[in-house]
Amino acid sequence: MAVIATGNKSKPKGIICYYSGSGNTKLACQYIVSNIKSIDFDLFNIARDGTPDLEAYKVAGFATFTDFLGPSYLVQAFLQKLGQQNGKPALVFNTYGAFNGKTLRTLDKWVSAKGFKVVAGHSLHTPESYPPMVARGRGNEQAPSEKEMNAFRKFVAELEEVCSRLKGGQEIRKKRIRIGLLNSVLPTFSRTKAREDMGEKYVDTELCNECGVCAKLCPCGAVTLDPQPVFDMSKCYGCWSCYNHCPTKAIYTRKFRGVGHYPKPIRQLKEKLKV
Ligand SMILES: Cc1cc2nc3c(=O)[nH]c(=O)nc-3n(C[C@H](O)[C@H](O)[C@H](O)COP(=O)(O)O)c2cc1C
Ligand code: SF4
Ligand code: SF4
Repeated sequence: MAVIATGNKSKPKGIICYYSGSGNTKLACQYIVSNIKSIDFDLFNIARDGTPDLEAYKVAGFATFTDFLGPSYLVQAFLQKLGQQNGKPALVFNTYGAFNGKTLRTLDKWVSAKGFKVVAGHSLHTPESYPPMVARGRGNEQAPSEKEMNAFRKFVAELEEVCSRLKGGQEIRKKRIRIGLLNSVLPTFSRTKAREDMGEKYVDTELCNECGVCAKLCPCGAVTLDPQPVFDMSKCYGCWSCYNHCPTKAIYTRKFRGVGHYPKPIRQLKEKLKV
């Protein structure tokens, strides 16, 4: 297991397990852990690092981006691999580009079903990583707004308070996750919706340099190189990671070619979440 260790041996340890396609969620998690002083958090990449042993951690976090109005099913598969917990405190967190839907509530439900006690939760509005939205000029480069940043800072301050009480051995009550009326009426989608929406992927054989980035980053093992990529649609989740990260923009779909890429957090977001 590879974790990014963040600190000092004498403090209690926490861990945030994150799934981040383009880095927004990872960046926000780095902001969170660097602003929490009473517990040292490790960061754990759900898509790369296998399964963590949570025994040594006083608190566990689960973070993801909104993927078709809910948390990615990869996070659910990851949670299924963890052992049943007996009330270990947990935090839930997600980033989203436009419409969050029931992401945080569903994540709370999945994490709670695993026996964790969710003691903190927040959703942060960030720029869009979904190419069809970016290509249509809906990149939300300005997100988060000052108001949304203030709400995020408030969440981090409340989390610090929770961590300090956990460090002191105090019992913390379960947090009620609120998602607002609009989000609560938005639909949830089946796990195949994203894949169907993306459809077949093609490769511009002139542009592809056979670098293998698409195969390396596919979280589902749906890409093999021969020597150019071949996509296994039965394994694909429609996460757009291969499309977003191809350095030559060689991957395309029926509707989108050479547009809307979001491979990493944009400068504006990096400045707002600077640590
Ligand atoms: C496949 C896919 C589906 C997405 N679906 C939604 C969505 O339903 N609602 C939303 O607000 N943002 C959606 N987004 C945008 C991301 O949630 C948002 O940009 C997030 O900050 C990306 O985080 P990451 O960089 O950690 O992957 C989607 C992005 C991708 C790639
Ligand atoms: S990432 Fe792009 S250039 Fe690299 S192998 Fe895949 S399609 Fe080809
Ligand atoms: S093939 Fe591309 S879109 Fe499908 S799961 Fe892999 S990285 Fe995501």
